[in-house]
Amino acid sequence: MKHLLSLAQLSAGEIAAILAQARQLKADRSQPGGRSHLPLSGQTWALIFTKASTRTRVSFEVGIRELGGNALYLAGSDIQMGRGETVADTARVLSRYVQGVVIRTFAQKDVEEFAQFGSIPVINALTDDEHPCQILADLQTIEEKLGTAKGKKIVFIGDGACNVPASWIAAAPKVGFELWIAAPKGFQPATTAGIQVTEDLFAAAKNADVLYTDVWVSMGKEAEAADRLKVLAGYQINEQLLKVAKPGALVMHCLPAYRGKEITAEVFEAHQQTIFDQAENRLHVQKAILIQLARR
Ligand code: CP
Ligand code: NVA
Repeated sequence: MKHLLSLAQLSAGEIAAILAQARQLKADRSQPGGRSHLPLSGQTWALIFTKASTRTRVSFEVGIRELGGNALYLAGSDIQMGRGETVADTARVLSRYVQGVVIRTFAQKDVEEFAQFGSIPVINALTDDEHPCQILADLQTIEEKLGTAKGKKIVFIGDGACNVPASWIAAAPKVGFELWIAAPKGFQPATTAGIQVTEDLFAAAKNADVLYTDVWVSMGKEAEAADRLKVLAGYQINEQLLKVAKPGALVMHCLPAYRGKEITAEVFEAHQQTIFDQAENRLHVQKAILIQLARR
């Protein structure tokens, strides 16, 4: 594994290796002296973010430091790329200074171009097309709660055409879970091979092991907010929907959450343990990714 640009590019074995290492790192972190392994010692990793972030930024910065490295946060608007310097030139410059880069941006082609022109590992920290680190942390969470994701029925409800469901779709054939996407027309995924897509959220949620949702208005889609709230209204995780899922089904949310929109406040609070475990697992899974990509 040279980069993590997309879940679609990972093999089943690579996903399993990341999850196994993340599990070990989580166990180690709770032990005194568990952080003595410093594989990023002497390294600096840059974080280029052109979109807002709480979880991804903080968990990467903390993770890099816990592995012995330095994290250098670069807001897209502060570097020359924000004024039109090309991705290719930025990649070639940063490759002379730092040992790896974590990028959150709009176009998937920008992270791919960075990897193509630079000579350092690139991690996709969310683009319009994918959010691989999120889904790897979610898989760790499902393993912790249900033993395995394999064979489980995972149902995504809401904007089925955004980055988070796209990474779920990429993971499905590799991990071997049954994936349903419940979304209105216009918000259904472009790629549907091997998954079930329906407008009927109750049919989708029937006997589900996991109900999963994400914001209705992704970053960059703010101009469409009014329209999205109208069309997606009803594609909500609430008590009624939960009743048709398996007893004890997990409710998951990548966060940030908008109560009263994609999830009710009651369901969110009843399942906050799982949801904040997902957020915590971003740290462990990303440390595993950093270790696998770090050049020694
Ligand atoms: N889930 C997630 O990626 O959160 P942030 O946007 O806060 O990084
Ligand atoms: N789909 C959301 C995910 C946020 C973590 C967005 O792109 O804004």
